[in-house]
Amino acid sequence: MSASTKSPYIIVLGNEKGGTGKSTLSMHLIMSLLHAGYKVGSIDVDARQGTLTRYVENRQSTQNAMSRQLPMPEHKSIHKSTNPSQPEAETEDEKHVMETFEALKNNDFIVVDTPGSDMYLSRLVHSRADTLITPLNDSFIDLDMLVRLKDGSVESSRPSTYAEMVWEQKKRRAIADGGSIDWIVLRNRLSSIKAKNKEHMEEVLSKLSKRLGFRYYPGFGERVIFRELFLSGLTLLDLEALGENMSISHVTARQELRSLLSMINLPELKTKIAV
Ligand SMILES: Nc1ncnc2c1ncn2[C@@H]1O[C@H](COP(=O)(O)OP(=O)(O)O)[C@@H](O)[C@H]1O
Ligand SMILES: [Mg+2]
Repeated sequence: MSASTKSPYIIVLGNEKGGTGKSTLSMHLIMSLLHAGYKVGSIDVDARQGTLTRYVENRQSTQNAMSRQLPMPEHKSIHKSTNPSQPEAETEDEKHVMETFEALKNNDFIVVDTPGSDMYLSRLVHSRADTLITPLNDSFIDLDMLVRLKDGSVESSRPSTYAEMVWEQKKRRAIADGGSIDWIVLRNRLSSIKAKNKEHMEEVLSKLSKRLGFRYYPGFGERVIFRELFLSGLTLLDLEALGENMSISHVTARQELRSLLSMINLPELKTKIAV
């Protein structure tokens, strides 16, 4: 893939719940792609919370303190329009999204972090996705964001508003440029404890994947390494590049990231990350 001949591949992290790992996964995907040698743009659509933006700022400070170059994304954030007229606010949001993607067009990838709530801005960026990644905590409360289960059964369930919204954006994307959105749902913060709840979730998600049209990735473990480096703006991939010792948990975390990336439909990426 060359930045000069192809438009960037867009990865959007989204769902309609806070605290499921969108920002954490955004950071880790950005770093995985940068360390694989790609040029990466990043967009924080959750600008009010600004987690991804702060992460990039923290990384910048660490870089300055270390006086050595760290791989960096080209970062932008998008604030929701405050125009009191809804049609005007939507037009402004559309313009802002278009300009931001245009400004990042020389990257190989653009990774977009979105807020955990439904808003026009978030819908707009969902419709741009080549791959949409939806993390869920391992809980039926999070699953409820995708589907309303009746009597715990998938057969008599109906899609929730988020799944319907994704469906809408898939249609919108097809009309806009004939492209398609590949939707991946994954479980995050899995505990190593074997539990009934966990097995039931697994079964329900496997069945739902056909019904709602997503691919299912079993998930990321609950790991300190995914959260402890935020203040330094680093990730486990930087530790490795800086020559630090990798613990077994770090190696497993890296493997989880590689496996997720290998699900993205880009043959060249698979070779680069060497799963
Ligand atoms: N796999 C993980 N292991 C450990 N902690 C995690 C993991 N994923 C996310 N977290 C933590 O969970 C919380 C919510 O994650 P965050 O990425 O901010 O979610 P969101 O962006 O969806 O609101 C944060 O405290 C984050 O550090
Ligand atoms: Mg977030």
